[in-house]
Amino acid sequence: MKPLVIHGGHVIDPTQGIDETGDIIISEGKISPRDRESDLSPTNYRVINAAGLIVCPGFIDLHCHLRQPGDEDKETIATGSQSAAKGGYTTICCMPNTTPPLDNPDTIDYVKSIAAREAVIRVLPIGCISKGRQGKELVDMDKLAQSGVIGYSDDGSPVLNSRLMRQALDYSRRQGLPIIDHAEDITLTGDGVMNEGDLSARLGLPGIPTASEEVMIYRDLALAELTGGWLHIAHVATRGGVELIRQAKANGIRVTAEVTPHHLTLTEVRVTLSNPNAKVKPPLRTQRDIQALISGLKQGVIDIIATDHAPHSKADKKVDFAQAPFGISGFETALGSLMSLVHRGELPLTTLISKLTSEPSKIIGTRYGKLGSLNVGEPADITIFDPDMEWVVDASKFVSKGKNTPLDGDRLKGKVMVTISQGKIVYQDDSIKVKGI
Ligand code: DOR
Repeated sequence: MKPLVIHGGHVIDPTQGIDETGDIIISEGKISPRDRESDLSPTNYRVINAAGLIVCPGFIDLHCHLRQPGDEDKETIATGSQSAAKGGYTTICCMPNTTPPLDNPDTIDYVKSIAAREAVIRVLPIGCISKGRQGKELVDMDKLAQSGVIGYSDDGSPVLNSRLMRQALDYSRRQGLPIIDHAEDITLTGDGVMNEGDLSARLGLPGIPTASEEVMIYRDLALAELTGGWLHIAHVATRGGVELIRQAKANGIRVTAEVTPHHLTLTEVRVTLSNPNAKVKPPLRTQRDIQALISGLKQGVIDIIATDHAPHSKADKKVDFAQAPFGISGFETALGSLMSLVHRGELPLTTLISKLTSEPSKIIGTRYGKLGSLNVGEPADITIFDPDMEWVVDASKFVSKGKNTPLDGDRLKGKVMVTISQGKIVYQDDSIKVKGI
């Protein structure tokens, strides 16, 4: 097959400080050097005209739920990876809260083998912290590390036992892999289903106080300090959480953190009794929290943006708000949602791209090549998007099996046009034509 050239796009690569119009050439799955003499015509190349489009490293998602094994009616590794590709992702890390959970090398190998056969992009598994996600006994972290997990998490459930968390962080220090912390004190959450405040009182729904997140972040930062382990706080959603992480970083504690597109852009007002698609954990909070999250992101207190793509079936969500499962299907709306911050002048475009590419790559490390960059010789993982294209979210058209988005019917500005994974076009908008094929 002829090499591919992405011609005349606005290339942004935070790892090399590139922010200019240019061409990217892809040959044999890798980014190739540009031979100044060569004629980049469709005779010699397959050509994508990227004029007016942004060309950047493929997005990397450190936190998603693919539901396989066990809940293939909600999502599979195949459908989840296709949905991610449509959202501009070329690497996704899947959480282990499957059935059975990914708490031993066999289940990790299972995910890896299905991913190798059926996924259209790179899928990297995360192992459990505790056996069966029960919070009682540590998994065999040495065996899981050997099987290639990129970190550990009991996501969906917190590790309530502080001693167990200490042990996990001890291993983390030795292995150099992160403990990805679902920071929630479920004794404070109780039967809460949304942000605790005036609105929850008015709706008559039990609330989740911000302290539910903050006390756990506080505890786990103390344990990270005690052990020297690497704590990664998943889906930070509160102003208090941002401040705790800020202080911890200033004090030299090894902590990184992520925020989701929905926590950066939506508040609790999206919650109505008739819309369980706005029910998510941690819950959507307030404008004050959003401001703190955006500032934290810009200042490097929060390192990355991760989707927490959490697909659920229609039947699961078609129940009373209180009974519905928590979670938002996030891959396909992530970029469009996040671009609203750029269009409003709240986040520079280059910062947004680094939080989706080079920063998550630092957390994964280099075992899978240098991800998240357009360096010559690296795997050609590339996202091309139109920053200004407006479109209306139609959940029924999601590639993901999970149609559970609170954004259904919303107009977004910013759309993925092409996703290239290891040199292969894995998603292409209908409006894009590749010349020279
Ligand atoms: O809303 C959520 N859904 N939060 C989580 O932490 C887990 C996730 C899921 O697995 O559905």
